Amino acid sequence: MNHSTTLSLLSSVAMAPRDPILGVTEAYNQSTHPDKINLGVGVYYDDRGKVPLLDCVRAAEAALQLDPKPHTYLPIDGLAAYNKAVGALLFDGCTALAEQRVVTLQTAGGTGALKVGADFFRRFFPEAQVWISNPSWENHAALFESAGFVVNHYPYYDAAGNGIDFAAMLEALEHVPTGNIVLLHACCHNPTGLDLDEGRWEQVLGVIARRGLIPFLDMAYQGFGAGLAADGKVVRRFADGGLTVFVSSTFSKSFSLYGERIGALSVVAADADAAARLQSQLKRTIRTNYSSPPEHGARLVATVLGSAPLRAMWEQELAAMRERIRTTRRDLRLRLEALAPGRDFSFLTRQSGLFSYTGLDKEQVRRLREEYAIYTLDTGRICVAAVNSGNIERVAQAIATVSA
Ligand SMILES: Cc1ncc(COP(=O)(O)O)c(C=O)c1O
Repeated sequence: MNHSTTLSLLSSVAMAPRDPILGVTEAYNQSTHPDKINLGVGVYYDDRGKVPLLDCVRAAEAALQLDPKPHTYLPIDGLAAYNKAVGALLFDGCTALAEQRVVTLQTAGGTGALKVGADFFRRFFPEAQVWISNPSWENHAALFESAGFVVNHYPYYDAAGNGIDFAAMLEALEHVPTGNIVLLHACCHNPTGLDLDEGRWEQVLGVIARRGLIPFLDMAYQGFGAGLAADGKVVRRFADGGLTVFVSSTFSKSFSLYGERIGALSVVAADADAAARLQSQLKRTIRTNYSSPPEHGARLVATVLGSAPLRAMWEQELAAMRERIRTTRRDLRLRLEALAPGRDFSFLTRQSGLFSYTGLDKEQVRRLREEYAIYTLDTGRICVAAVNSGNIERVAQAIATVSA
């Protein structure tokens, strides 16, 4: 092939669609409005509008600097101390953990865990299809599709009541073919902020077990909802539910370590032997993808989780982030109810985690952007932590007006 043919071949590659979330941030960055607000982000901001550097992370970083290590490769499945600490955090008290049939592998963020899991399933269960809530985090469908899967959606959000259409969800799951993969948000559902209660989770577990489906639990916000232990309950319940379970988790949000890309893929298998075989195949998947994970974030998390005082510090800082989100939800609801008496904003305090589905439609989101320089996703999802004491009044006024 000569030079000019190669050039023309590549010039036929079309532009990829813009990422819907990053696109909002680009538009926000371009705005020259002095009081512009970006509610479209997927990151926890403190009340000053900053991404926090947690004190426990600062302390771990200082400790690591006192004992510098050469930057050699980590093993394919990551830092052993990190994997052990993550396993203990996620499966605390589980029989499966005691029976040594849980394996945890360090991955490049929660996204890496989902991708390694997806590639693994594609290799061993190429006929399976994937089922994702409608709606879900945008990258879920894209990621499984790029791994080669057909991705289907099960009903979840009920727009009319700003709640969950649980009957429709359960009915859909009843018809998912055996051996298919069902992706579930373990807590703090992104984007709706709406989670199933315990009784409903039991019903979901029942259908999944009865129909022989493979649950893939994604937990990106442990500690942002009701607390570390409470948010992790679903993972622990599934782990001891007599099923093979895949769990993706990440410390991006709970440790505010976004750029370190520090997550994990855990698998609960039937017995220790099956766990070892699955681990060996997952390592192969990683080896042919990025070979081995990055080091620094794993050392930070392992240091914090491995030290009683640093762990206590982390739990306190996580509780403070959670409390700020809860207070902001309450305050925004109160402001909106004061500005628009008689209208129902109770969804704000019924939802949990970083996000709220406000029920705003595309046109109302456009008005927020054009009339108030308030940027958010077309779906009406807002990041509650992007609201702070300096902008809550403007946010409330704008939402009350455009949704009137
Ligand atoms: C539901 C969900 N899963 C996974 C992730 C990925 O997390 P990470 O940034 O650690 O890759 C996110 C991040 O926003 C998320 O919201």
